[in-house]
Amino acid sequence: MKFFVDTADIEQIRDLAATGLLDGVTTNPSLVAKTGGDFFEVVREICALVDGPVSAEVAATDVDGMVDEGRTLAELADNVAIKVPLTWDGLKACRALRQDGTMVNVTLCFSANQALLAAKAGASFISPFVGRLDDIGQDGMQLIAEIIEIYGNYDSIDTEVLVASVRSPMHVLHAARLGADVCTIPPDVIRQLTKHALTDKGLDAFLADWRQTGQSILDRDAP
Ligand code: G3P
Repeated sequence: MKFFVDTADIEQIRDLAATGLLDGVTTNPSLVAKTGGDFFEVVREICALVDGPVSAEVAATDVDGMVDEGRTLAELADNVAIKVPLTWDGLKACRALRQDGTMVNVTLCFSANQALLAAKAGASFISPFVGRLDDIGQDGMQLIAEIIEIYGNYDSIDTEVLVASVRSPMHVLHAARLGADVCTIPPDVIRQLTKHALTDKGLDAFLADWRQTGQSILDRDAP
């Protein structure tokens, strides 16, 4: 499963990119607004830090506006993926931008039928929002299972399932168990993935025992 980070925060992206674990980035207008930066500059900087797809969302809601904005954003870097909402106009814009050869991420997906439409429109990625479904008492991961099942029924579909609105390590675990193509994860949740109380406890014990030996791995002359 590919790991994308769901943020527009350059420092967070720089730090995570240095781990070599990052396969891409997703942004949305809310995340860009949080940075307080210029949208184009933010997208350019992110694209220079990460080789994989960087999602940048259009703000227009009509097809012509979305296509114009998408084409403008696509010129910022080769690895820009244009994010369009799952509306009729969004699906038409998806088709047009894909015909240009631009990657398209269809976002705000909350049903399997919506995901089927996005695939038929040629989307590169479909972004079902699992956390927001959980928020209203529905099962976000059940939607991921349904989309993966449906896409798996048709060899002609090559849209990647990008699990979005991820809120916890359990979402990441379930996404991987279901075989999702991509999970886009907030930076704090990515960091939580390394954590286990027994890892910390075990490391403390190993280091305490090592200190007792009085040895040094690098300084072989140490007593
Ligand atoms: O990429 C979409 C995602 O950022 C939405 O997450 O937590 O605002 O539902 P959230």
